[in-house]
Amino acid sequence: MDAMIQVRDLRKTYRMGEIDVPALRGVSFIIQRGEFVAIMGPSGSGKSTLMNLLGCLDTPSGGRYILDGLPVDQLDRNLLAAVRNRKIGFVFQQFNLLARQTALENVALPLVYLGGVPGEERYARAQQMLELVGMGDRLHHRPQELSGGQQQRVAIARALITQPALLLADEPTGNLDSRTSTDILALFEELNAQGITIVLVTHDADIAAHAVRVLAVHDGLLDSDTSTPRRSVNGGAAAVGHDHPGDARSNDGRRLDRSGGEHEHLDTNGAG
Ligand SMILES: Nc1ncnc2c1ncn2[C@@H]1O[C@H](COP(=O)(O)OP(=O)(O)OP(=O)(O)O)[C@@H](O)[C@H]1O
Ligand SMILES: [Mg+2]
Repeated sequence: MDAMIQVRDLRKTYRMGEIDVPALRGVSFIIQRGEFVAIMGPSGSGKSTLMNLLGCLDTPSGGRYILDGLPVDQLDRNLLAAVRNRKIGFVFQQFNLLARQTALENVALPLVYLGGVPGEERYARAQQMLELVGMGDRLHHRPQELSGGQQQRVAIARALITQPALLLADEPTGNLDSRTSTDILALFEELNAQGITIVLVTHDADIAAHAVRVLAVHDGLLDSDTSTPRRSVNGGAAAVGHDHPGDARSNDGRRLDRSGGEHEHLDTNGAG
């Protein structure tokens, strides 16, 4: 077994003055290295809360989280930041690029935080990453001089420059038209084929269909965990007889199994 993410009974309660807001009420699952997982669920169901925990951007109120063998639920904020810098790339709906910096500078920035990479090498690697995402001819453009899809490519290059083992994307195509979304999805599939583990939040069933496995979140709990037939961006052939790929219950419920053995699976209600 080669687990990238193991969460058990993960919880997050936000404190709003006197009121507790239980955003995640105990979710358990394992994501293996190399998987491409979509997280779906209605607005307010806890998807971003879960992503922020998986991305070490926030600490859980309870439960366990083991990331690539490291018990990150026990780390303080400084160590958490170090783990995040080394292991995780994050892509957001709003791109979150620095407006005054060029594409090249934006992409090189995580290497500053990582430390130990000389300036010249930072920019060389940033250029390589931008070329990888098809932005080699826009190195010196600032975000407002780029289209939405181009900005998201820059954001993806920035997420990849530290060579993270895990790419987390929260509604990465939420602000893009469907054509551009398809291009971005193709890029994710390519990265996944190269071995990077991807977890992506989406409202869009068509987008979720690019994932091999869909976790459905509802009201702070994991509702279902299903594998889906893979549909490739340019082909579409794999989606045989599967008109509603986002409906996690409409397929045969097979679990992803790369190893030939049983897919390890914790009880989704956290009781196991
Ligand atoms: N910082 C916060 N403080 C207090 N409550 C929060 C905070 N962040 C989220 N919540 C609450 O937690 C619940 C889950 O929010 P979350 O952002 O995880 O939902 P989501 O599934 O990502 O929704 P969407 O699809 O709209 O992005 C919501 O009820 C929300 O109001
Ligand atoms: Mg959200």
